Amino acid sequence: MKNKATLEYQGKKYEFPVIEGSENELAIDIKTLRAQSGMITIDPGYKNTGSCESGITFLDGEKGILRYRGYSIEELAEKASFLEVAYLLIFGELPTKRELEKFHTDIVNESMVDEDMKKILDGFPKSAHPMGVLSSLTSALIAYNPKFVNVSSEEEMYGAIVRIVAKFPVLVSWTYRKQKGLPLDYGDDSLEYVENFIKMMFKKPNHDYQRNDTVIKAMNKLLILHADHEQNCSTSTVRIVGSSHAGLFASLSAGISALWGPLHGGANQAVLEMLQAIQEDGGDTKKYMAKAKDKNDPFRLMGFGHRVYKNFDPRARIIKKAADDVLDALGIDDPILNIAKGLEQEALEDPYFVDRKLYPNVDFYSGIIYRALGIPTEMFTVMFALGRLPGWIAQWREMRLNNEPIGRPRQVYVGATTREFVSIQDR
Ligand code: SDX
Repeated sequence: MKNKATLEYQGKKYEFPVIEGSENELAIDIKTLRAQSGMITIDPGYKNTGSCESGITFLDGEKGILRYRGYSIEELAEKASFLEVAYLLIFGELPTKRELEKFHTDIVNESMVDEDMKKILDGFPKSAHPMGVLSSLTSALIAYNPKFVNVSSEEEMYGAIVRIVAKFPVLVSWTYRKQKGLPLDYGDDSLEYVENFIKMMFKKPNHDYQRNDTVIKAMNKLLILHADHEQNCSTSTVRIVGSSHAGLFASLSAGISALWGPLHGGANQAVLEMLQAIQEDGGDTKKYMAKAKDKNDPFRLMGFGHRVYKNFDPRARIIKKAADDVLDALGIDDPILNIAKGLEQEALEDPYFVDRKLYPNVDFYSGIIYRALGIPTEMFTVMFALGRLPGWIAQWREMRLNNEPIGRPRQVYVGATTREFVSIQDR
């Protein structure tokens, strides 16, 4: 029967329902496994384990498909604004003109950050990694918005959501400008969300702001492409922290820390550092390909491979084309881009990568565009976090509205069995 699975162990049979998703994915519902059999499952990295049923993002790793609430990433990246996509991810539908205007107005009304937050920023050395600063500032927002921690109604959640969507770009720009020794800016609320962010980031105190449509279009596309990606490491972190009802800002702060890792969002910084190392090493891509394949060498080809995509990451395709367009439009000839393309070509023809279905992922080309936009390498993962913010929020909101239980995995204990205490004199 399609809707039942049977497990047989030591002559006993256990039956479990099989659920089917709207894209025909099948999952064995093992909620009663331990009650029926006394056994649990084990799956390090959760490679075969679903944590939830979600209606937000669908991706097909074999076909290289990515959709937000049913809309293809290709269409959204081309036709939507980042704020429209944020609204779509969080509330489930593309906003009408009026809904989008209200969302933007509510955000503008909450886009001030308590000036005392600057004292926290002042406490960091300029050498502090911006992801650590951003995670701390996001957590600090709790102290300045205490009424938006214990939220349970949709209305209270909306209050927390517009506050973080409003204040996060300010915190990102402050984190960047503090490191550059620039005055902290609040931008210009008469501007559209992404353009306002760009102005907050790059406006020089002694120059008038100059609008650059290429930069705005590229930033809008990059943020959309990073907006959500089902149950990745940082999103799962946001959901599990949120499942204890720790509040949205605390859950996001934890998600920022998870994204920081070089195997996850930190890969975009690691890709640029890798490409620069290859450039400084005379562009010897073959040497780095050999290192990536050498099991005794911890080096990995950063920006390649993916837990789910066993085909081209659809975001990488779009970003690769955007990198060409942005560098042409800005008149930049970046040798790093040529090294990246050479490395990609070699990897796509190398049996080690082909056999393991290792393709360029979202992080492989994104850094090249950020670099062209004047963003320093250490800020690349912060840009990923800004893009991923609406996805994290949407997943947190879905988890809370579904009243999901607190996340608490089981384990198989493999340590010492019971033994008597021995006093220190006798050890
Ligand atoms: C993101 O999950 C998401 O959705 C994440 C993300 C999102 O939008 O949220 O898409 C964003 O995090 C993209 C991934 C960015 N990370 C990197 O680019 C770091 C480099 N990539 C790898 O570390 C790795 O591919 C992962 C972490 C992305 C995926 O690792 P898996 O699924 O655990 O696979 P694995 O480590 O078991 O690798 C399988 C095999 C191994 O070789 P064998 O043991 O089979 O011989 O492939 C090899 C690995 O050694 N391998 C690589 C490699 N990636 C995997 N070998 C060299 N270079 C690589 N990059």
